[in-house]
Amino acid sequence: MPLYKLINFSRSVGTTTEILLWKITESLSELSSDVTLNPVNSIRFNGMKSELHQRAFLSVRKLLQLKGYTDFDLEYDQFGKPHLKDGKHISISHSHDFATLIISDEITGIDIELQREKIIRIAYKFVETEEEFLDKENQEDYIRKLTVIWGVKESIFKIRNEAGISFKDHIYVHPFQMEDKSGTAELNFQNKSIQFKFYFIEIDNFTLVYAFQQNQNK
Ligand SMILES: CC(C)(COP(=O)(O)OP(=O)(O)OC[C@H]1O[C@@H](n2cnc3c(N)ncnc32)[C@H](O)[C@@H]1OP(=O)(O)O)[C@@H](O)C(=O)NCCC(=O)NCCS
Repeated sequence: MPLYKLINFSRSVGTTTEILLWKITESLSELSSDVTLNPVNSIRFNGMKSELHQRAFLSVRKLLQLKGYTDFDLEYDQFGKPHLKDGKHISISHSHDFATLIISDEITGIDIELQREKIIRIAYKFVETEEEFLDKENQEDYIRKLTVIWGVKESIFKIRNEAGISFKDHIYVHPFQMEDKSGTAELNFQNKSIQFKFYFIEIDNFTLVYAFQQNQNK
């Protein structure tokens, strides 16, 4: 399937943000025929053990093409964070049969996750202050909210890209309602407090979260 969803908006004057989502239905050979990888990414691609990961990797390149970019416009730093050569901010995520990216003038991160019951079992690893507003009795709501919280923390981690950040100890998601489709969070790490605004949408059984750093120069 080609592009599954496109979201285009401006949060403040002079900035634009685009989110592109691909539902991966094509075979590896179909996707490969349309994408040329740069030498570094080619080596990485050939070393990937999972075909699903390879298909997701190529689907991200299909999304880049829709915005006029090729794989040659993308570079990864030593930690694996992607950067666009033209200076726009980019973040990438893939999960099962979805691949997504966000391109923005603002500092941003994105994450897509399948909503799974399993998240309840690992909640203790990434939930701390959020316990106060989570209702464990309502299991469906609990799973949906935990998935948002996880996505927010992953998105913030991708923005900051700093070793030592703990989801549980350093990133706090403030109370939110599922109907709000947005919220705020903060990172307290190494004597800095950084605020974030996040948004989320639910598609099929997936939760797509994207976050923006509010203090752009920290
Ligand atoms: C790097 C990390 C953020 C990737 O997230 P993920 O859920 O495994 O996978 P996603 O599909 O959402 O994201 C993968 C993409 O993130 C990007 N990415 C990888 N490392 C990154 C980094 N250090 N910073 C920003 N983006 C990064 C890449 O674009 C990658 O896709 P690609 O290599 O195919 O282009 C994650 O593995 C991680 O290290 N998280 C933090 C560690 C942690 O504390 N985890 C658990 C706490 S309980």
